[in-house]
Amino acid sequence: MVRQRLEEYARLIEPALDRFLPEINAPQKRVADAARYSLLGGGKRLRPALFLEFYRLCGGNVNEALPFACALEMIHTYSLVHDDLPCMDDDDLRRGRATCHKAFDEWTAVLAGDALLNRAYEVMADAAAGFHRPQDAVRAMRHIARSAGIYGMVGGQTMDLQMEAGRLGSENLEQMVALKTGALLSAACVGGCLLAGAPQRQCQAAERYAHSFGLAFQIRDDVLDAEGDEKELGKTVGSDEKDGKTTYLTVFGPGECRRRIDALTQDALDAALCFSDSSFICDLARWLAGRTY
Ligand code: IPE
Ligand code: IPE
Ligand code: MG
Ligand code: MG
Ligand code: MG
Repeated sequence: MVRQRLEEYARLIEPALDRFLPEINAPQKRVADAARYSLLGGGKRLRPALFLEFYRLCGGNVNEALPFACALEMIHTYSLVHDDLPCMDDDDLRRGRATCHKAFDEWTAVLAGDALLNRAYEVMADAAAGFHRPQDAVRAMRHIARSAGIYGMVGGQTMDLQMEAGRLGSENLEQMVALKTGALLSAACVGGCLLAGAPQRQCQAAERYAHSFGLAFQIRDDVLDAEGDEKELGKTVGSDEKDGKTTYLTVFGPGECRRRIDALTQDALDAALCFSDSSFICDLARWLAGRTY
């Protein structure tokens, strides 16, 4: 059921991503091709699906939210392109294919990430200008920007690499994960609510759902990095160990990871009660607890 709903959303999202990041035949073609290679080459499309779902749960028509959902996927993809670079996690495999800097080269991958990030805001600004409630569009954009930047994902990545270098202790693990992974999930869930002009009560429930979902999602990611099947995962297994990362698995071990994933999943389910017709977000939270990719 979860996979089916995700596929339905993907059928909306994939062609829209292709439209919002068209091919170009100009001297900039190399970087544009690299950006398209990373954006259109698979991925679960979880964040845009969550954005559209929360917009729908708050009374919106999903087609109106598509540019914002696609922009968020562009930001997420840029974060992955940069995360894989030799100066960060130094990985060769992403979404079942060569990472951007392996398929192209490093400078191309850096600029492809930059291009994806900037294009995301251009797409949102265009959509906000024509949106029937421009103030809600600006609020959603601001939340996405905040969640992606130094107070969100970029801040979390900063902490991740500082921990790897031994300059930050593992007592910061939860905050690091809440930022590097939770923040873009909050951009999806709360962003969708804000765009729909939802009341504070729903925005707060979406924030709680995203926070718990995000922590559980990253704990599962850490476990899969050690125990997953490379082919199914589409990423190199053992990457965290190679980098000497501090993760939930290294700090707490597999049993405690399982217990935490279950408790966080329950908390996400409790938060979802605020929305009527919450079956998809509940199924998604349950699915994530045992996901294999
Ligand atoms: C990978 O996110 C990065 C993490 C936050 C763990 P996803 O597992 O959602 O990656 P894609 O988009 O499906 O490739
Ligand atoms: C990074 O977490 C999350 C991002 C902000 C990109 P990881 O480094 O564990 O993500 P993967 O495992 O490479 O997808
Ligand atoms: Mg990383
Ligand atoms: Mg990584
Ligand atoms: Mg990982």
